[in-house]
Amino acid sequence: MAVKSLQDLFHETLKDIYYVEKKLVRALPKMAKNAESPELREAIEAHLTETEGQVERLEQIFEIVEKRAQAKKCEAMDGILREADEVLSEVEDGATDAAIIASAQTVEHYEIARYGTLASWARQLGMDEAAELFDETLTEEKEADQKLSALAERTSNQQAAAA
Ligand SMILES: [Fe+2]
Repeated sequence: MAVKSLQDLFHETLKDIYYVEKKLVRALPKMAKNAESPELREAIEAHLTETEGQVERLEQIFEIVEKRAQAKKCEAMDGILREADEVLSEVEDGATDAAIIASAQTVEHYEIARYGTLASWARQLGMDEAAELFDETLTEEKEADQKLSALAERTSNQQAAAA
């Protein structure tokens, strides 16, 4: 479709992030299964529950803008997950968690970028209710990212101690 206005761009980006979240609901259980440390597994499982809530929040926003909830293929997300699989197949035991954390943080950063943009566009378009819903998710994504950073630090300390 031709994107003629900020409104159109908003709608296209909403479909993009909807694809990302739905895809992540399917990808996270695999990441959790591959995690070596119980802390990382629990963090990923907690974010899965959160992500399911984020999908619902997006469906609420589709309702607010009176559009059908529809996903649009996101090449960036597909690329990130493809690369995550590749790294995971190459990595040796002991570095698995570091690889999973790196991939998960890449996804989080993509989402943080998207939600920041969407919240700002929603405000510009006068959709305050939608903007608040984006902000709620944005806060969760930032917290998930910080939790992963803390886990990454612990993982690298443990590996340094074991070496
Ligand atoms: Fe998310």
